[in-house]
Amino acid sequence: MIGPMAEQNSPHDLPDIAGRTIAVLGGTGDQGRGLARRFALAGLDVVIGSRSAERAQAAADDLGADLPVRGADNAAAAAAGDIVIVAVPWEGHRELLASLEEELAGKIVVDCVNPLGFDKKGPYALPVEEGSAAQQAEAVLPRSRVVAAFHHVSAVVLLDPEVDRVDLDVLVLGDDRAATDEVRALASSIGGVRGIYGGRLRNAHQVEAFTANLIAINRRYKAHAGLRITDV
Ligand SMILES: NC(=O)c1ccc[n+]([C@@H]2O[C@H](COP(=O)([O-])OP(=O)(O)OC[C@H]3O[C@@H](n4cnc5c(N)ncnc54)[C@H](OP(=O)(O)O)[C@@H]3O)[C@@H](O)[C@H]2O)c1
Repeated sequence: MIGPMAEQNSPHDLPDIAGRTIAVLGGTGDQGRGLARRFALAGLDVVIGSRSAERAQAAADDLGADLPVRGADNAAAAAAGDIVIVAVPWEGHRELLASLEEELAGKIVVDCVNPLGFDKKGPYALPVEEGSAAQQAEAVLPRSRVVAAFHHVSAVVLLDPEVDRVDLDVLVLGDDRAATDEVRALASSIGGVRGIYGGRLRNAHQVEAFTANLIAINRRYKAHAGLRITDV
């Protein structure tokens, strides 16, 4: 008798990331605090990083004593994290990551940085020598597993206590299948969100740049617009 066929892995399968520590570099800003809050609400251990350990601890305390969040300087946060989110402004991106190459070796580093400029016509994508912020991270962190994600989530929505379910899909890009799967699971830990694989890291530029379109939409419609990918 022929046995049952081996079950095919579904692209929707998610690894179990319970027990992972999530660090957020630049976690004192809106985006970092918003992500930290949602991951902590999902029960994950979170470390907010900052150039100042005191500012980091104050940001952690502000999120609520009942949440599993603590603060540390960026280097200690990077060392503590299994998955490390980069949530600093584009201007400080290269320098901060280069200074943490050692601490970030072997880690999953998740870049959500959008290199954008703003002028009187509104937001626009800045040219990036390496192609994208995520590819710059890959260039300065050769020993890390760089993934790009969370570019389109609104910090305002993440921080809003009235919003239980966040209505968007997070595109997750990278060249390391296991790393992108972990980050899809991380995205999916936020109520309402699906983490969807969005291609290799070389395709991160247009995902980062598309944030300029979303900000333009938000300004016109007074919204916090997000993407949904249909038919998956
Ligand atoms: N805001 C959003 O809705 C949103 C959404 C998607 C993606 N993003 C991306 O997420 C990143 C952070 O956004 P944000 O609005 O949270 O930015 P932000 O508040 O301007 O900056 C975040 C934190 O980065 C640290 N920082 C500032 N300048 C730095 C530098 N030169 N070097 C190292 N650290 C520096 C600061 O923390 P310390 O002073 O405590 O070190 C600051 O609190 C940006 O790259 C943005 O494109 C934002």
